[in-house]
Amino acid sequence: MSLPEPSPLFFSRLRLEYIPRIMLIEGQAYPEPWTYNMFRQELENECSYFCAMFQNDLMVGYGGFWLLLDEAHITRVTVIPELRGQGLARKLMFHLLEAAVDHGAVVARLEVRESNAPALALYERLGFLREGRRKAYYQRSNEDAIVMAKKLVSGM
Ligand SMILES: CC(C)(COP(=O)(O)OP(=O)(O)OC[C@H]1O[C@@H](n2cnc3c(N)ncnc32)[C@H](O)[C@@H]1OP(=O)(O)O)[C@@H](O)C(=O)NCCC(=O)NCCS
Repeated sequence: MSLPEPSPLFFSRLRLEYIPRIMLIEGQAYPEPWTYNMFRQELENECSYFCAMFQNDLMVGYGGFWLLLDEAHITRVTVIPELRGQGLARKLMFHLLEAAVDHGAVVARLEVRESNAPALALYERLGFLREGRRKAYYQRSNEDAIVMAKKLVSGM
């Protein structure tokens, strides 16, 4: 007997009405969560690409980047706790990197908490390389950030 195909994913650009649900996920996902106003600003920031990921009618994750000249600076990559470990973050990242290329980015860059093993493994698996470290980047914990980058356009 074959297993049923997982429901397809649907990506939708950020809307004001998504923010309350995002805030619930955000609070569980990050030690230094973004505030409501930070998400609101994403709606107005012309450099921002931010989207929510849905499976059926359920928001299962969200993520985004800021387009800074030809760099896509990844700001958020989040999957709901109940559905982690099923490849959803990888699909979200594919979507973000494709959108970044469509917007003219030639490189994607991000910071990740040194102790965030799942995220470090995710980005390494996607071909991101470690570039350096920002000392005590996370203010509450004083933890270092690892800076990672991936070329999006071959021949650079
Ligand atoms: C990091 C996060 C987005 C991963 O989401 P996910 O949907 O579970 O990840 P995926 O199932 O797509 O996994 C893709 C790859 O990531 C790595 N990975 C994911 N979870 C992992 C874990 N718990 N331990 C080790 N590696 C892990 C693996 O390399 C995996 O590939 P593989 O299954 O082929 O080995 C999720 O844990 C999350 O939302 N965390 C809280 C928010 C956060 O820290 N975001 C990153 C900010 S920098």
